[in-house]
Amino acid sequence: MSRSAHPAGPRHADVLPDGHYVAPPADLNSLEEKVWARTVRRHDDGVVAVGGIPVTRLAEEFGTPAYILDEDDFRGRCRAWREAFGDDADVFYAGKAFLSRAVVRWLHEEGLNLDVCSGGELSTALSAGMPAERIAFHGNNKTVHEIERAVEAGVGRLVVDSFEEIVRVAHIARRAGRRQRIQIRVTVGVEAHTHEFIATAHEDQKFGFSLAGGQAAEAVRRALKLDGLELVGIHSHIGSQIFDMAGFEVSARRVVGLLADIRDEHGIELPEIDLGGGLGIAYTADDDPSEPHDIAKSLGEIVTRECESAGLATPRLSVEPGRAIVGPTAFTLYEVGTVKPLEGLRTYVSVDGGMSDNIRTALYDAEYSVALVSRTSDAEPMLSRVVGKHCESGDIVVRDAFLPGDLAPGDLLAVPATGAYCRSMASNYNHALKPPVVAVRDGGARVIVRRETEEDLLRLDVG
Ligand code: LLP
Repeated sequence: MSRSAHPAGPRHADVLPDGHYVAPPADLNSLEEKVWARTVRRHDDGVVAVGGIPVTRLAEEFGTPAYILDEDDFRGRCRAWREAFGDDADVFYAGKAFLSRAVVRWLHEEGLNLDVCSGGELSTALSAGMPAERIAFHGNNKTVHEIERAVEAGVGRLVVDSFEEIVRVAHIARRAGRRQRIQIRVTVGVEAHTHEFIATAHEDQKFGFSLAGGQAAEAVRRALKLDGLELVGIHSHIGSQIFDMAGFEVSARRVVGLLADIRDEHGIELPEIDLGGGLGIAYTADDDPSEPHDIAKSLGEIVTRECESAGLATPRLSVEPGRAIVGPTAFTLYEVGTVKPLEGLRTYVSVDGGMSDNIRTALYDAEYSVALVSRTSDAEPMLSRVVGKHCESGDIVVRDAFLPGDLAPGDLLAVPATGAYCRSMASNYNHALKPPVVAVRDGGARVIVRRETEEDLLRLDVG
């Protein structure tokens, strides 16, 4: 949705509470390509389809709310990242964005590696056949049990995040008769231009070892002294939903600077650097994400240049996109339950999900778009707010949206770009049942994560 300073003569309903003017889109029936999964189309009968399947059929068969994931799009994005980075680099999909066993198999088949950050993600990966050496284990406070499992499984790398953890991993690896490959997570001091809660490279936060403060260099010293550890590289992740490559440039420069310092102090050149994930996607028409090819080119050039000027051999680069792969491949399908016009303000459209299936609007002020997908309409646009069914007024799915004025209970709405951090951050607030994830491909649809049932909830309630 395009927000701009208000032109002369506002229509009352178009002025948002923050004083911005929102222009109704020219045609509410057209779908803004960049926010939708690749195979999404509106058919001649007005119904939107994905993978060739009309959403009305998906709603009938699988119910609403449901996350509908375009498998071809997911695989296509994996391939695009793989091909863009080529054989001299590794792409680790960040499982926290969305992970299921089907997803693990797709990643494996498409030649991607996997970043996990908990025992649960590790189990999912291993149980679906991801080779352990292609898994990286992250986290700022991994439990002893998680480290033991990761080391026993033989994960390809463990990214250490604290002085305590360096000692813990070394001890566990030694006891298991192993030498664990590790990377050291550093904080490069970049202020990424994104929401405070998803920026991770400024100094005042919990992740990594500070470069500027000297902790990173000290972590390297300690890691090099311990049997049981094989220090292979340096890791930096600057944040999430970032469009500006400048932050990555600074990060790469500082990480390479540390590699040069390590060479000078210890006489070794570490063979790997990982620049993390964080590339932004289009949630609304205003967002302009870069293509994997351009991202790979720009990161590759920065690293090569910095290494050349430091007199280092170029290390093997890896990246960890999560959102940029899965985010655009799914939408959430909801049914409208109530339509409540508030005179002079806006119309509240309640759907059958809400903050339990998408917490991002409430948590990060995330902006989403929405479309009526079960039919077309020529009715006048009405300024709407799409809200859920939970017991608080912050339960907003799409803050500002234009929807057709004849919207009615029973209509289906779809919110695009919900593939990342929606199912994976879903909750049971109000004892809501988490929606299923339905994968569509070539005219076929199958549940890859089933809908929760009341029995699932009651099974945990053992009191
Ligand atoms: N690598 C590391 C070490 C990370 O911590 C993350 C995300 C990623 C890779 C993947 O980042 P991505 O490419 O998906 O942006 N819940 C928030 C996002 C938190 C991201 C946490 N770490 C959201 O909904 O926006």
